[in-house]
Amino acid sequence: MSSDLITPEQYIDLIGQAVNKIQSVLPTDSAISKPRVLIICGSGLGGIASLLDKESLIELSYKNIPGFKTSTVPGHAGKLVFGLIGSNKVPVICMVGRLHYYEGYTFQQTTFPVRVSKKLGVENVIVTNAAGGVNPSFKPGDLMIINDHIDFPGLAGQHSLRGPNLETFGDRFQPLSDAYSHELRKKFFTKAKELGVTRNIYEGTYLFASGPTFESRAEVRMLRVIGADAVGMSTVPEVVVARHSGLNVLALSLITNSGNGEKPPSVFDENAKPLNENIASHAEVLQAADEASKDVTRIF
Ligand code: 6GU
Repeated sequence: MSSDLITPEQYIDLIGQAVNKIQSVLPTDSAISKPRVLIICGSGLGGIASLLDKESLIELSYKNIPGFKTSTVPGHAGKLVFGLIGSNKVPVICMVGRLHYYEGYTFQQTTFPVRVSKKLGVENVIVTNAAGGVNPSFKPGDLMIINDHIDFPGLAGQHSLRGPNLETFGDRFQPLSDAYSHELRKKFFTKAKELGVTRNIYEGTYLFASGPTFESRAEVRMLRVIGADAVGMSTVPEVVVARHSGLNVLALSLITNSGNGEKPPSVFDENAKPLNENIASHAEVLQAADEASKDVTRIF
C-alpha cells in the first residue's frame, strides 16, 4: 500500500499543475474563475450540472487536467463544469463523475479534486451519492441528509489521510465529530420544506464500504447493528479530506434500493423458493437516482 502513495512534495506539485491548468481556461474577468462551492455529483446525479447558467459555462475533461484520473463507471462522465448557480449567481464547480477506491485508485487520487478545489478558493463542498438503505424504514427514492458517518475501511487501516500529513492543508489529527455542517444541513432542509418537496427526507449515518460488491444479507444485518442508516462506496474519503482542508460540508444520499437483511431461504424448508427479488443492481441505482435528483436539483 505505502508504495502506492506519492510523496507530499510530488502531490503538492501535481495540485499546483492542476490549478494552473484550470486557471488557464477560466476567463479571469468572470466570477467563475473564483469558485466558492464544489458539488460532487453521485451516480445518476450528473443532471445537477444542468442547473448552471448556460452562458458562462466552461467544461474541462478530467483527462486534460494533470493529476486527475478518469472515471471508469457508467453514469459517471468525468468532467469539471464551471458556472454560476441560482438567482444570486454563486460560482461553483460541478464534478460530474467521481472517482472511487474500488476502481483501483488510491485515496490520494480519488480525493485529488477536493484539494485542487481548495486551492482554487472553494469554501463549501456538497457531496451527493446514490446509497443503499440499511435503516429498515428507508425506501427507494428517499433522501438522507448525512449527519454522521462510519468509515469502515478507515477504521480498519485503509484511511484517506494515511501517509505523511499535508501540513499546508491541515493538521495530522483531524476531528470529525463536527464534520457535517449543521448550518448547511438546516439550509437544505428549510429550502426543501419551503419548496413543498414531498419526498421523504431523513437524517442519518452513512457507512462507507469500499465496494464494488453490494452487501450480502449478513453484512446488511451487521451494518444495522453498528448504527448505519445507509451504505455506499464513496463520499467519506472526500468528506474527510474536505474537513482536513477546512472546507464546510453538506452531504446527501439518495436511497436507491433497500438492503436485504433477511436470511436466505433455507434448503431445510421444503416450501422455500430461491428469492430473486430485492437484488441490488447498478441499473436500478441509476434509475432511482435520476428520479430523486429532480428534487435535489430544485432545492439546490
Ligand atoms: Cl445496496 N450498497 C452499496 N455499498 N452501495 C450502493 C448501494 C448498496 N446502492 C447504491 N449504492
